[in-house]
Amino acid sequence: MGDQASRPPWAAGDVPAAGGEGWPGAGDWAGWRTQFPILARRTYLNSGSCGALALSVRAAMEDYLDLRMQEGADWGLWLERFEALRASLAGLLGVEAAELALTASASAGLNSLASALSFDGPRRRVVVSDFEFPTSAQIWHAQARRGAEVVHVPASADGTSVPLAHFERLIDERTALVAVTHICYRNGARLDIPAIVELAHARGARVLLDAYQSVGAGPLDLRALGVDFAVGGMMKYLLGTSGSGFLFVRGELVPALEPLATGWLAQADVAAMDITRHVPAPDARRFEAGTPGVANAQAAAAGIAILRHVGMAAVGARVEGLVTRCLEALADSGIAVATPLDPDRRGATVAIRARDQAALVERLAAHGIVTSCRDGNVRASFHFYNDERDIARLITALEAERGLLA
Ligand SMILES: Cc1ncc(COP(=O)(O)O)c(C=O)c1O
Repeated sequence: MGDQASRPPWAAGDVPAAGGEGWPGAGDWAGWRTQFPILARRTYLNSGSCGALALSVRAAMEDYLDLRMQEGADWGLWLERFEALRASLAGLLGVEAAELALTASASAGLNSLASALSFDGPRRRVVVSDFEFPTSAQIWHAQARRGAEVVHVPASADGTSVPLAHFERLIDERTALVAVTHICYRNGARLDIPAIVELAHARGARVLLDAYQSVGAGPLDLRALGVDFAVGGMMKYLLGTSGSGFLFVRGELVPALEPLATGWLAQADVAAMDITRHVPAPDARRFEAGTPGVANAQAAAAGIAILRHVGMAAVGARVEGLVTRCLEALADSGIAVATPLDPDRRGATVAIRARDQAALVERLAAHGIVTSCRDGNVRASFHFYNDERDIARLITALEAERGLLA
């Protein structure tokens, strides 16, 4: 056993009552910037791809390595922390821990869910929006061998939304599942999830939300949204690292869903080590598989601890304020965006129209600004640790690179 007393409290996924040692107060935005060392070196506008790494998240990963160095392994402690992460994430999403599977990626959660669905009855269609991240459409296309038919809901003519009327035309008595992203990874547009859920449920279909581009950037209440399933991951706005994701399955649906993609840690009684049968866990743990990434889970717990300390409402308001100010500043400079201006129709990402997206990302990097690009746009994504100076630096750099703007 390691010396538990010497470990940082956030490594266990606990939310420190008064913050971790040396933590700034919840609304001390300048103080929080010191917790993310990259912010002293770069203008970091890439949280939609990968969140900035906090000191405490690094400490949580190092804690895993220290234990490996000093003690070898402590499975009891690691599993305890894994469950603490599950509980903490459940609190953040407004769901029960028993409704969450902790997976190695969003894709792993989707695959496990897909393997539990049948596509051999009259409802064999999966309706996906044209705003999906590739994995969230490809995995459904892969189910074609099992009878699934994938139908794509087209975007509006200007490409900035997927209108409800387009869903209305395609969701019908043949639809098993409507798989939609919350925020489009390409342009930052927010889909009208409550309206899509109402429509789908009225027509007897289930709804799966891809929340990867929204989780951690503001309040996200899966129960209030009414979705049946959701996936996401810890690497972006949740401030964790790669190799960690989650799948939410609404409690009442769990017993009837038996994933074919499974493993020993998805069993009802893991300790039984019984190779003569498969008895899935009664809760959403049945969607898990094998040995989890312990260091990644500790990082995720540490990232969530920061967010819960700052408060999701405060995080959401801060992100929304920064995105609004960025869009205003871009408009003042006559720079075109692909992101909807309506605050209800967008998330934490601003997509700037580029003539040569890769070249612009490279030029911005030369100005010390970290962004990414997709679909002809350069993405600047904001988290609570960004500030007005980041926006000013972005605008100055874009004005200097006007030749690369569309
Ligand atoms: C909206 C969305 N969904 C899914 C993914 C893929 O997640 P994973 O690699 O964990 O499967 C991403 C990753 O960027 C994403 O932005």
